[in-house]
Amino acid sequence: MHERIEKLRETLAEDLKSAADLKELEAMRVRYLGKKGEVTLLMRKMGEVPAEERPFFGKLLNELKKSAEGLFDNRKAELESKDAANRWERERIDVTLPGRSFSVGRKHPITLVLEEIEEIFTCMGFKIAEGPDVELDYYNFEALNMPPEHPARDMQDSFYINPEVLLRTHTSPVEVRTMEAQAPELPVRIISPGKVYRRDDDVTHSPMFHQVEGLVVDRGITFADLKGTLLMFAREMFGKDREIRLRPSFFPFTEPSAEVDISCIVCNGKGCRVCGGTGWLEILGSGMSHPHVLRVSGYDPEEVTGYAFGMGVERIAMLKYGIDDIRLFYTNDLRMLSQR
Ligand code: DAH
Repeated sequence: MHERIEKLRETLAEDLKSAADLKELEAMRVRYLGKKGEVTLLMRKMGEVPAEERPFFGKLLNELKKSAEGLFDNRKAELESKDAANRWERERIDVTLPGRSFSVGRKHPITLVLEEIEEIFTCMGFKIAEGPDVELDYYNFEALNMPPEHPARDMQDSFYINPEVLLRTHTSPVEVRTMEAQAPELPVRIISPGKVYRRDDDVTHSPMFHQVEGLVVDRGITFADLKGTLLMFAREMFGKDREIRLRPSFFPFTEPSAEVDISCIVCNGKGCRVCGGTGWLEILGSGMSHPHVLRVSGYDPEEVTGYAFGMGVERIAMLKYGIDDIRLFYTNDLRMLSQR
């Protein structure tokens, strides 16, 4: 017994020195003085010691316990003061470091272009009209002179919800909805920005993209009004030197129809890689409202005429900002979005 007590006294003193921090010290205290600690266990063993020796060893053990407690307290005080001294280092802050700035969000390039288009047309007296993304086949196709089986439907391969309902493939249905709501009131003069959907997916086509539709209906509206308005738009949007070119085309809901090009914004019409050497960039489709469209929308084509146009916003943003992959608009890559 004597030996064990002495041995414990020695190892305890040795161990204490090696305790590097308060946590280690506490673990050590439990190991020696805790309920199942070595000193405590030895005290329990007193029962096995012959009765006449008990007072002697009892005293010895009590002394050991007392001195151990004292040692622990001393070591604790020592470690605590060391800890306090270190704290300055640990919690040091460099007040001369530049602060962390908040990153400020900014508008998406599509939003910027949409707002610019809206600004240009509202300044010319256009109102903004909106329509649903989930559209009836009737407004998306039939009222626009595309009956079932019309081949022009194929060009706009679509997401159908059921045979009568689909995600709109263009913003043109808003023409019909607006006229229906307004007839017989004149003039109709609206643009309609919004999302459209097609089964398309490559560098220049996305299954969801944005269009802006335009429609003007009144007495005596002519092709010259269309051309003048679009020339004005092209110059506001792409610079005052722009020229436009109208090429004959076909859309079921306009007659006659034209595709509109602007003189290339990179080479100014000389011919370059961006315009494929032609000097022209196609930016929208347009035409004079087809009598069928006016009629089903509540206007008499004998009495009024109208023009319409539709443009792809991504296409315009790509031209304006020199972006060559449409998917960059949707992948939320800040390296792209934080430029401007
Ligand atoms: N809706 C047509 C499309 O998505 C674009 C268009 C062409 C709209 C001619 C028009 C128009 O209003 O007159 O391809």
